[in-house]
Amino acid sequence: MATENKASATVSLQSDVLDEAFEFDVHHGTIGPSVFDIRKLYGQTGMFTYDPAFMSTASCESKITYIDGEKGELLYRGYPIEELAESSNFMEVTYLLLNGELPNKAEFENFNTIITRHTMIHEQLTQLFRGFRRDAHPMAIMVGVVGALSAFYHDDHDFMDPAQQLTSTHRLIAKIPTIAAMAYKYSIGQPFVYPRNDLPFAENFLHMMFAVPAEDFTGNPVLAKAMDNIFILHADHEQNASTSTVRLAGSSGANPFACIAAGIACLWGPAHGGANEAVLNMLGEIGTTDRIPEFIARAKDKDDPFRLMGFGHRVYKNFDPRAQVLRKSAHEVLDELGVRGDGLLDLAMKLETIALEDEYFVDRKLYPNVDFYSGIILRAMGIPPSLFTVLFAVARTVGWCAQWAEMMGDPSQKIGRPRQLYTGSPRRTYAPISDRG
Ligand code: SDX
Repeated sequence: MATENKASATVSLQSDVLDEAFEFDVHHGTIGPSVFDIRKLYGQTGMFTYDPAFMSTASCESKITYIDGEKGELLYRGYPIEELAESSNFMEVTYLLLNGELPNKAEFENFNTIITRHTMIHEQLTQLFRGFRRDAHPMAIMVGVVGALSAFYHDDHDFMDPAQQLTSTHRLIAKIPTIAAMAYKYSIGQPFVYPRNDLPFAENFLHMMFAVPAEDFTGNPVLAKAMDNIFILHADHEQNASTSTVRLAGSSGANPFACIAAGIACLWGPAHGGANEAVLNMLGEIGTTDRIPEFIARAKDKDDPFRLMGFGHRVYKNFDPRAQVLRKSAHEVLDELGVRGDGLLDLAMKLETIALEDEYFVDRKLYPNVDFYSGIILRAMGIPPSLFTVLFAVARTVGWCAQWAEMMGDPSQKIGRPRQLYTGSPRRTYAPISDRG
């Protein structure tokens, strides 16, 4: 996948250990920053680069998603997220992310049928839920059950075969919502609801979440559209922490179901996908608008670990375009449901206004991110906060699968193995305990 659009750069390194000039390739992307190709750096200089959180490091070449943090732009295979949120649907966006182009009618119907036919899970897998306490966090269940899928798809599989890679991505994308809904049903002691082949993806998910055998279930098209929209907005996002986890796990040739389980584990963190649940908990703790200044002060206090959840982003130094779409959707859903009662949305809007006028947030370009509004919508839809990150995982499984498949198809890909700056003890000799005083 090496890019042909390249130049070269001469870098002179003067330090206490080196005084020499070196030549490196520079690769130019279609859009966005160019890269220094430093793969030969250690061989040429005997030095490593040092970039612990990968603040200035491109880990791979990709054609899937592009973010311009300064402009607040997000493109899926070149299409702006706001256009896809407005005019597309999650299954069509899934096809786009996996294949690189929007499907025609026949391609869409075929793809939709394939995904639909994979939504059931092996009946044996339902027994695994019984091993969890009823109050287990649903993300713990997701890590366990999705990881267990690798026990059902392993021995007779060759994941180097592109056809079997494709089937694995179809299975994961189709089964994750079924497992997510089962995690919810298990937590409330209701029977599992099987997927239905006559329902589109988002409606099928809400049906599995909220239907009960005792009566017919009537879905709400506004809620289904909002759910589909939330899935679109969360589907992929370049090389974020969980996607990088999936790529690194996959680089060893690990089972793709195990790799996605690793991505779910990483997404759970409150600094990443767990932030949507943390936003709701934070708004609940703030309670009323008169307490907002107290929490803004805490967020600015270096001695206080509290951060304003749902604000800030490693890449966006402008509004997260997903937050913009969700902000509008939040008003629509709450108006449709007539549930502005608890004032969470009004509290969030007030918090956003105050924070965006405060120089601490303005100076650091800390804007609301995707997690700031998603929780408010999901809660209004009757989804418990403990399930918010699970829904993030349902959507991001599409991006994880697309990124994993891109990595597996990259002829230059090798097992990821970073180096380190060692500051531990130099070599020393073992002393028996009797000599240690
Ligand atoms: C997601 O990578 C992705 O693409 C992720 C994601 C995706 O789709 O995959 O977009 C999903 O994870 C969104 C982010 C959700 N997380 C949160 O909302 C948690 C709250 N936000 C922060 O923890 C933080 O903003 C991060 C983790 C999102 C980004 O952190 P960075 O880029 O490492 O920035 P930083 O921690 O170096 O902060 C820079 C400064 C610091 O102050 P100074 O040391 O310069 O004085 O900004 C401050 C930070 O203290 N800061 C905050 C803050 N976020 C950053 N201060 C208060 N509240 C915050 N939320």
